[in-house]
Amino acid sequence: MRIVLLGAPGTGKGTQGRFISETYNIPQISTGDILRESIYSKDEIGNIVKKTVQEGKLVSDNIVCNLVKKRIQKKDCNNGFLLDGFPRTIAQAHYLSSNKIKIDYVIELRVPYTSILERISGRRIHTKSGRIYHIKFNPPKIEDKDDLTGEPLVIRKDDEKESIIKRLKEYEKMTYPVITYYIDKEKFGTLRFFKINAVHPSLIIKKQIDAILKNDFIT
Ligand code: AP5
Repeated sequence: MRIVLLGAPGTGKGTQGRFISETYNIPQISTGDILRESIYSKDEIGNIVKKTVQEGKLVSDNIVCNLVKKRIQKKDCNNGFLLDGFPRTIAQAHYLSSNKIKIDYVIELRVPYTSILERISGRRIHTKSGRIYHIKFNPPKIEDKDDLTGEPLVIRKDDEKESIIKRLKEYEKMTYPVITYYIDKEKFGTLRFFKINAVHPSLIIKKQIDAILKNDFIT
């Protein structure tokens, strides 16, 4: 099972990606997480992309495609994988098709911008594991502490209001065309495309995604 999860910042890709990964036992490959890990570990890529990510701009296709290429060559991807936040440009989508990396499902999460701002401004993350919380919608058991390790939760550097607006603009400009691209692909029967109104609580969205992946989703 090879899945692409698309959606603007804060629509719940990371949250749903984790559910899908656990339920279907496939790795969640989040290009955002991979880039953040590089930034925290201050490796070569991290030093190059730090400013770009924190300003809410997209990292170059070349860097991101190479990271994905390396990751999907790993053994745990043999039975499938979930791409969370990739492809985000037409060039990245072409990268997959030109390398014969077949995708079975594309799931787009849609949420109005007002909810996105509320979601992102309340987000807290546990840096090492990538676990995602929300001060109102998914609060940790102890305020500002990770449930499993008790370590402090942090606010992502690119969750400042200015970066969020830039990320939303980048999404409209660069990623909307990817949605059209996949809708067209569905017409040729090469994959299944689903749009989900992801405004509901996460467990409801999870059920809808389960229904899609078990082939009993009614549109
Ligand atoms: P990335 O990490 O992918 O960020 P993003 O796409 O902006 O998405 P977010 O992580 O902000 O949100 P999400 O949809 O995962 O929502 P979440 O589940 O956390 O990318 C970061 C940056 O890396 C990019 O800006 C770019 O610079 C670079 N990058 C990454 N991929 C790239 C690529 N392919 N090409 C080029 N550059 C790339 O949920 C948000 C909050 O809402 C959480 O607090 C959560 O608890 C809460 N929540 C989730 N679901 C619900 C719900 N149903 N109801 C209420 N609250 C909810």
